[in-house]
Amino acid sequence: MNRRQMMQTAAGLGLGVMLPNGLFAQSIKKLEFPPLLDATSSQKFRLRAQAGETQFAERAGTDTLGFNQGYLGPTLRLRTGFTTQAEVENTLDEPMSAHWHGLMVPGESDGGPHQPILPGQTWRPLLPLDQPPATAWYHSHVHGATARQVMYGLAGVLQVTDGRDDERGLPSNYGVDDLTLVLQDRQFDWRGRIKYTPGMHETMNGFLGDTILVNGQIDTAAEVPRGLVRCRLVNGSNSRIYNLWLSDGRPMHLVATDGGFIDQPLPLTKLTLAPGERYEALIDFTNGNDTVLMSDNVNNSPMGGMMGGSGGGAGFAVLPFRIDASLPVRITKMPLHLNSDIPDLIGADATVRRISLDMSMGMGMMMSRSGQQFSINGETFDQKRLNFTVAQNSVERWVVSADMMMHPFHIHGVRFQVVSENGQTPRAQNDGWKDTVLIDGTAELLMQFEKPASATAPFMYHCHILEHEDGGMMGQFSVA
Ligand code: C2O
Ligand code: CU
Ligand code: CU
Repeated sequence: MNRRQMMQTAAGLGLGVMLPNGLFAQSIKKLEFPPLLDATSSQKFRLRAQAGETQFAERAGTDTLGFNQGYLGPTLRLRTGFTTQAEVENTLDEPMSAHWHGLMVPGESDGGPHQPILPGQTWRPLLPLDQPPATAWYHSHVHGATARQVMYGLAGVLQVTDGRDDERGLPSNYGVDDLTLVLQDRQFDWRGRIKYTPGMHETMNGFLGDTILVNGQIDTAAEVPRGLVRCRLVNGSNSRIYNLWLSDGRPMHLVATDGGFIDQPLPLTKLTLAPGERYEALIDFTNGNDTVLMSDNVNNSPMGGMMGGSGGGAGFAVLPFRIDASLPVRITKMPLHLNSDIPDLIGADATVRRISLDMSMGMGMMMSRSGQQFSINGETFDQKRLNFTVAQNSVERWVVSADMMMHPFHIHGVRFQVVSENGQTPRAQNDGWKDTVLIDGTAELLMQFEKPASATAPFMYHCHILEHEDGGMMGQFSVA
C-alpha cells in the first residue's frame, strides 16, 4: 500500500470524520517513540517537569507540558528486584506530582495528591520494585489539576523489566519490534492550540477530543518489520474508551495486562482499552499486508443509561501499520507460554468491601462547578479524610459497581484479579492482573495489600476518567 492508498483507507474508515477542524495533514509521517530512559543499570533517573511549545499539526505551536521535553516524557525502564532512586524536579509555576501508576511502591513514594512537588522543588522518592515485569505509566496527580495537566502532557510510560524477554520469546527491540503506543484524544482550535475548557457536559461525560494522538503525534504510521511486533498500548486519554481492532481482521495476541504477563498469548479480534489501562499485544506481520489499528466510537454517556459496547459507524483509525521489509526481524514465532508466576488468591479468606461509583443527576448537573456530583459510596473526595484502613497483607474482595455509565476504576499500590463481571466469568481480556478495570455494571475484584501506606501518604482509589476524578470520584485508604 502506498501513502495515498493508506490515506484513502484511513479516510475511508473514518479518520477524516475524526478531524473536522481541517487539521488533516497532507502526508502520513513515520511514528516516533518517546526517548528511552533506561535506568536498569544506573538504578537512578531524573525527570524535569517543564513547560514547552509543541507543534502538533502544520499550524502554530501550542503551550504544552512535559517531562524532559515539550510534551509527554521519556519511557522509563526500571529493573525489578532493585531499588531505583527517582528525582523529579518541578520547573513549572504550579504544583505537580509524579504518580507511578502500576508500580507497587509504598504510599510515600506513590506520587499521588499527598506528594505535590511545589514550583522549584525536587522530589526524591525511592522505588523499591519486586513486582513482575509490566508496562506501567506515570502522570501528574494533583487533586483538581490532574485532568488539565495530563491533557497538556504531564505523562509518560514506564517499563518494569527483569531482562528475560528473550527467554520468553518476546520482542524487546525498543521502537523497532517493541512499540510503546500512548493513545490520546485532543481538540485543537483553528490556530492549532489545545482546546480544553471542560464545561458541564464534558465534566459529566468526560472530555472527548476529535483528533487522535499516538505518542503525541497526529497522522503517523508505525513502520514495522516482517515479524512479531509487540505493542504496549497505554490509554493516556482523559476519558476516551477505545475498542480496538485491526482493519484486515487480523487478531491481536494479548500477552500482558496492567500487572504483567498472562500465562499464554490470547488471540483477540477486539480489545477494549479504558483510560489508565495498559495491554501488551503481539501482532504477527510475518504474513499479510499493511493494516490499520482501528477503534469503535464507544458510547459512554449518563444520558443514554447503561451503554456497553460501541456506538454506530465504522469507527476511526488510530494508527496505520506499514511493513518495512528492511527492518530487522528478531521473533517470528508466537511464544507458547509466558509463565506469569503470579499466585492465585482465589480461595483465600477475604474481607468484602463494597464500592459504589456515584454520579448524581438532575440537580447535580446544575452544580458541576461545585464538584459535588461525583462521589464514591456517597462521599466526594476530601484530601483530609481517610476513607478506611486495610490491614497489611490481608486479602480483600471489592465489589465495585457503577450506574448510569461505565467508569474505569483504579486502585493504587495493589494488583487485583477480576473474579467476576455482572456475576459472570470476566471478559477474556480481564483474565490477568489488573490495576484499572472498566466497570460496566458490577465487578468483583480480589487483591492482597502488600505495600504499606500511612494515613499521611495513603493510596487512592478512583475513576480514571480524569474529569470525574478531579470532580471527586476518588477515595483514599491506608495500609497498616
Ligand atoms: Cu493513573 Cu490515581 O492514577
Ligand atoms: Cu495509580
Ligand atoms: Cu467515572
